[in-house]
Amino acid sequence: MLKVARARPWRAACTQSLRTHKRHVHTPRTITVLGETYPTDDYTNLPPTIAALLERRLHVTPPHPLNTIRKLIASHFEGFKSYDNLPAVVTPELNFDSLGFPPDHPGRARGQSYYINRGVMLRTHTSAHEVDIYRETPRSGGWLCTADVYRRDEIDRSHYPAFHQTEGARLVNVADMDKLKAENEELRRGLSASRIIMEDCPDFDAITNPLQASHLPETVLPVAQNLRLRITTLFMSIFPPSTTPLHVRWTPDLFPWTSPSYQLEVRYRDGWLELLGCGIVLDDTIARSSHDPASERSWAFGMGLERIAMPLFGVPDIRLFWSRDERFWKQFRDGELRTFQEFSKYPPSERDVAFWLPVGVAKPHAASHAAGGEGVGWEENDLWDIIREVGGDLVEDVKLIDDFWHEAKGRRSLAVRITFRSMERSLERPEVNEVTDAIKAKLTERLAVEIR
Ligand code: DAH
Repeated sequence: MLKVARARPWRAACTQSLRTHKRHVHTPRTITVLGETYPTDDYTNLPPTIAALLERRLHVTPPHPLNTIRKLIASHFEGFKSYDNLPAVVTPELNFDSLGFPPDHPGRARGQSYYINRGVMLRTHTSAHEVDIYRETPRSGGWLCTADVYRRDEIDRSHYPAFHQTEGARLVNVADMDKLKAENEELRRGLSASRIIMEDCPDFDAITNPLQASHLPETVLPVAQNLRLRITTLFMSIFPPSTTPLHVRWTPDLFPWTSPSYQLEVRYRDGWLELLGCGIVLDDTIARSSHDPASERSWAFGMGLERIAMPLFGVPDIRLFWSRDERFWKQFRDGELRTFQEFSKYPPSERDVAFWLPVGVAKPHAASHAAGGEGVGWEENDLWDIIREVGGDLVEDVKLIDDFWHEAKGRRSLAVRITFRSMERSLERPEVNEVTDAIKAKLTERLAVEIR
């Protein structure tokens, strides 16, 4: 999130810019981005690999999950005008100055952002379009803007230098506070009837998260509450009801163009996932966009779509969103939430292994007898452990495919199907056979089974 400087130290800004400076020696005189040719200069640091991503337009390409999320969000904000095709090449004035970023804000550094040259860059957030969009929004209007955004960052399972955001904003006439309070009541009722757990935060704090000097609490608090309620109910409607209730928390935050400001996080796995930043837009920004700060208030938010899509679609690695592999694409349907099934690039190889359990293992469903001391013990987990122990990372999956009791022999037979797959290479048939034989030998040795 692009916060004010004191909110968070910005990682490795200096080393990064030194590195790019050296690379600049090889910068061509011009670069072409989305069909437009620009002169380069000492600020140029946009590599062709990143420039190529601008063509992808994932958020407007069905059945991509980011397109589905964009539409789900839009359906929650009825009557808001959508902007989904604004070009990613913007000026630093639009990206930073129009929002009141101080001249020395670390986000401006070449180490943090992609510059085509000193005068043009790739937007680092959808907020870059706030002022322009407000200009064409009528009084009391609302809008959404979804786009690809670019920041120089490390690459790991949850960070990629390109990602997507949806920005949203709503203008409210100060004369309409009673209407807004009634709407808030309605939203609160909806929340209390749901299974969502929401930890709220104070509307403001006089020192660390203040109201703007010109804002009276009665003309701004309903707007700030409406912001948090509209967003919380959005997540309530997007995340399908599950056995574990959705747990979100609001905390105060800092952005150069909002006050008070907030952040929303969602409980995911063992930690908190940052979903969005938002706040009450500063009067200065409102005035810059030809609205009247004396009679209008506005809330605005910006949320990361991959952060929402990863838990929602079960996508374990952010790089997958950029995949061209049809095994990614064909798993999705436009507008539907589906759980992604992981794949690797190499084909799987399956082997079935069938065996008699040792004489004396009790008939299934008569397990209570065995537990009572009759017969020979049999622990199914031993089976899985041995297969993994021998097959290692080549074993992707093991399924029990057959389990029967042979009356005449008085013996139980099992069969498992082992799926082998390497993440790094295609497995040759003899290698798979060899590992399967080793598994059979180990099962015989350790569990006294008889391979059939
Ligand atoms: N642009 C911010 C970011 O990328 C998020 C944000 C914060 C958007 C506050 C807003 C806002 O509209 O009011 O981190």
